[in-house]
Amino acid sequence: MMFDAIQPAPPDAILGLTEAYNKDDRPGKVNLGVGVYKDASGKTPVLASVKEAERRLIDTEATKSYKPIDGDPAYGKCVQALVFGADSPIITGNRAATSHCPGGTGALRIAGDYLHANHPGTTLWLSDETWPNYPAIFGAAGLEMKRYPYFDAKNLTLDFDAMLDGLSRASAGDVVLLHGCCHNPTGVDLEPDQWAKVADLCAERKLLPLLDFAYQGFAQGVEEDAVGLHALAAKVPELIVCGSFSKNFGLYNERVGSLTFVAGSADTAKAVQSRVKACIRRNYSNPPAHGGAVVTTILNDVALTAQWRGELAEMRDRINGMRSLFVHTLADKGAKRDFSFITRQRGMFSYSGLNKDQVGQLRDRHAVYIVGSGRINVAGMTEANMDGLCEAIVNVL
Ligand SMILES: Cc1ncc(COP(=O)(O)O)c(C=O)c1O
Repeated sequence: MMFDAIQPAPPDAILGLTEAYNKDDRPGKVNLGVGVYKDASGKTPVLASVKEAERRLIDTEATKSYKPIDGDPAYGKCVQALVFGADSPIITGNRAATSHCPGGTGALRIAGDYLHANHPGTTLWLSDETWPNYPAIFGAAGLEMKRYPYFDAKNLTLDFDAMLDGLSRASAGDVVLLHGCCHNPTGVDLEPDQWAKVADLCAERKLLPLLDFAYQGFAQGVEEDAVGLHALAAKVPELIVCGSFSKNFGLYNERVGSLTFVAGSADTAKAVQSRVKACIRRNYSNPPAHGGAVVTTILNDVALTAQWRGELAEMRDRINGMRSLFVHTLADKGAKRDFSFITRQRGMFSYSGLNKDQVGQLRDRHAVYIVGSGRINVAGMTEANMDGLCEAIVNVL
């Protein structure tokens, strides 16, 4: 029979870790694997602004009929105002077209499909290190991929000169994937002056930036985190932005992401969008409604927006507080290594510098779950688990 020859696929490197964690019945186990925010009590909460928007939606929802292929236009408007700033010339010039996609992952896949279908032979440049899901997503879309240097593993910082040098080898029409902020997996971001240089290079060499903006508001603030995007938008005529509201609205399982194409003119944006819609139609036809409606409800209401911004700031501040506490507690517990670089990294993740062997020991001997690369989810740390976690790390160092 056909299926009898099928061998099980290897578990997903990150989600497989959560499966193993869930099966572990040791008390005090800690999951610093998957990129999900947890509050001080270790829970992934529904934001109060989201709950209020949902209450309103339940009362007013009149139909479950299909959404347009690229989602509600009102959603697209909210996304554009958030990422570009409400009075951006990109918006007033109608140069952007946005689709509501199922999560940031869905947006990335549609971007890959669009590039493969409409710009055959496109090469996509990924940072080294990179989010492990990219090669799978863009490989499935049929894109060729190359790497540019990014992370200096010895000094646990950005190797900016090597990055520029690597990107200067890209050819006109190549696509460069950049993280708007909170680089996953390293936590190492570009500074504003470095963004300006990357934007210049993209403009000079006619490279198309694909900005993955999955963590807007998690590093320094909603506007502050868009500095890289604004630097690019000021210099290059065309770009692609993949957004996600999984993290900053806590809407993980509602699958609410966005794909925005910025073109040189309004007419071109329309033509591109018609091609994007063709890709969506043959993938999942049209997006789920609820998450997009929640985001639209919040962002179109002054009071709910203020409440959401406050809740986002709370998440951001908690993560940054955990970074400091982690570094101090490691020192208190006797770590010989200097971990202060962790406080300079941004967002949910840090490259800890822990090696595969140490990661294995943490899991086997201490029930601490970390991705094999040494990437830790700082948002999984709490005041309650910090002592045990740091003792375990010092133990395996
Ligand atoms: C870099 C990056 N891009 C995109 C995503 C997509 O997130 P989602 O599909 O859950 O919205 C994630 C989520 O972990 C991410 O880390």
